Amino acid sequence: MMQKWFRAAVLAGFGVVAVVLAGGGLTADDKKDPLPDISEIMKKAHGKTDGYLGKIGKAAKAGKWEDAQKTAKDQLILADALAKNDPPKGEKKSWEKLTKEYIATSKKVEEATKKEDAKGVEENLKKIFGSCGTCHKAHMNK
Ligand code: HEC
Repeated sequence: MMQKWFRAAVLAGFGVVAVVLAGGGLTADDKKDPLPDISEIMKKAHGKTDGYLGKIGKAAKAGKWEDAQKTAKDQLILADALAKNDPPKGEKKSWEKLTKEYIATSKKVEEATKKEDAKGVEENLKKIFGSCGTCHKAHMNK
């Protein structure tokens, strides 16, 4: 007679634990803001109630210079972003000229807020508000 020894090794339950660590997290450098488009800039800068230009004007009139200076800085950033966009219509040269003027006047507004010069703020804001039509005529697609 043959004796057979069967040894059954039963491996019961094995677990594979896979730990997936999600993402590494973005560093500040990874999430640089994309360039805002012209439409977004127009709304932010010129919006009737809370556009930057309106805000600067109001703050300056109220003598809230810190607010005026802060918003004037934001306005300058927007003005730079505007120049970096391509216009939907019109010549590149004209766009360069008009956006340069827009930046220059925004800069003058900022300087006036630093000097707490209410008149300077008002005059240069007026200048920007007088420039909307020229640029739209040349570069707006409607
Ligand atoms: C340097 C050129 C330039 C100047 C200055 C400018 N704009 Fe514009 N604006 C544009 C262009 C280009 C468009 C069209 C954007 C598009 O269709 O993508 C536009 C669009 C707009 C729009 C429509 C935004 C939308 O899509 O809903 C408004 C509102 C507007 N501008 C307001 C103003 C006002 C108010 C001023 C003056 C205080 C002004 N803009 C000055 C170039 C300019």
